[in-house]
This record gives sequence, C-alpha cells and structure tokens, in this order.
Amino acid sequence: MTPVVFYKSISGFTEKYARWIGEALDCPVYNLNAMKNVDLRDFDVIIYGGSLHACGLNGLKSFLQYYKKIAGKRLFLFAVGASPCSEKIPGIVRQHNLENTALAKTPLFYFRGGYNFSKLDIPNKILMYFFTMHLKRKKNRTEDDEGMIQGYDKPFDFTDKESIKPLLEAVRKGPENVQEIG
Ligand SMILES: Cc1cc2nc3c(=O)[nH]c(=O)nc-3n(C[C@H](O)[C@H](O)[C@H](O)COP(=O)(O)O)c2cc1C
Repeated sequence: MTPVVFYKSISGFTEKYARWIGEALDCPVYNLNAMKNVDLRDFDVIIYGGSLHACGLNGLKSFLQYYKKIAGKRLFLFAVGASPCSEKIPGIVRQHNLENTALAKTPLFYFRGGYNFSKLDIPNKILMYFFTMHLKRKKNRTEDDEGMIQGYDKPFDFTDKESIKPLLEAVRKGPENVQEIG
C-alpha cells in the first residue's frame, strides 16, 4: 500500500489532521495546490481532506479535476469543521457534496477542527464578520451559533489526534473500496 494525503486548509486545522494522517501512515502529505506536480502513478491510495464552508467540502472541485489520474485507486475523504462531531455529519456532508456524483459511496470521515478568525483569508474574514453579525441578531441561537459568536473574539481548537483512528483503520483494512470515477 502506497498512500498519499492531499489537503486544503485555510487556517491550519485540516493541515494538522492531514499531517497526523501522513505521519501515522508514513506517507507524503501535500497541499492541494501541489497536486498538479505529483505523479499519482506512484500511489494506490489517495486521501483528500478539506475544511467545511457552509457544508461544502473545500477544494473538492479542484481535487476532482484529477479524476482521470485517481480512477481505479482507493480513495478516502475527510472533512474538518467547527461543529461538534456527531453521527449525522458525514451523511449531511455526503449529501451536500457527493450525492449523484461518481464519489457517492466514497468513505468519508468527519473530524472536529476549530476556529481562528485571525488566520482566515480576507474574503472569509469579511464573510464571517457579516455572518457573526447575523448570528448576534438571531433570537433562538443554537449552541453552535453561540460557539461561532464566541470564536469571533476568542479562537478555539478541538483537534483530536485520536479521531483519525477510524480513517486509518479503513485505509489499512484492504482493497475493497476502489473508486469508480467517471
Ligand atoms: C465561511 C465559513 C463557513 C464555515 N462553515 C462551516 C460549516 O458549514 N460547518 C462547520 O462545521 N464549520 C464551518 N466553518 C468552520 C471551519 O470549517 C473550521 O473553522 C475549520 O476548522 C477550518 O479548517 P481549516 O483551518 O483547515 O480551513 C466555516 C468557517 C468559515 C470561515
């Protein structure tokens, strides 16, 4: 088995998970931007992770531009978001990003990241400024809403190395999930 990990991360949380996975599998880890320069013929397992933005898996469209090169390989996805882990999140992320695509059955894992306003790029800073204003005006705020409001001033980090174990087990398990990409 020769895996490789690609990631897209804005403020560093997804990168942290990608590097933990790379360390555990003893394999290379690349930013998605570098994918064009990596010879994918050298690998038979491809792992891609991106952060969640309004439920969308960051970078997935760019990642899939390489679909011809990743066809026939074992593919795993992971999403990193600020929301607490729950059994329903992978299903929601799958529905939002993969339904009716060739990757509908690709194994998908969710890991909790964090939130650090100061590390966001300018477009996301502007987006989050207005989104936080909107949350502050909301009447019946959820626990997640409160967390996002607090995170605006005070960064939080819920990354947990242990949470990558199910992904590692699935990768190590065997060749049953070769992807059909078309
Ligand atoms: C514009 C924006 C939208 C977001 N939408 C979601 C979301 O839908 N679900 C979620 O759990 N987290 C959401 N987040 C939080 C990020 O996914 C979280 O901060 C993540 O850890 C960032 O990882 P990164 O630093 O690797 O980009 C959002 C953050 C931003 C800036």
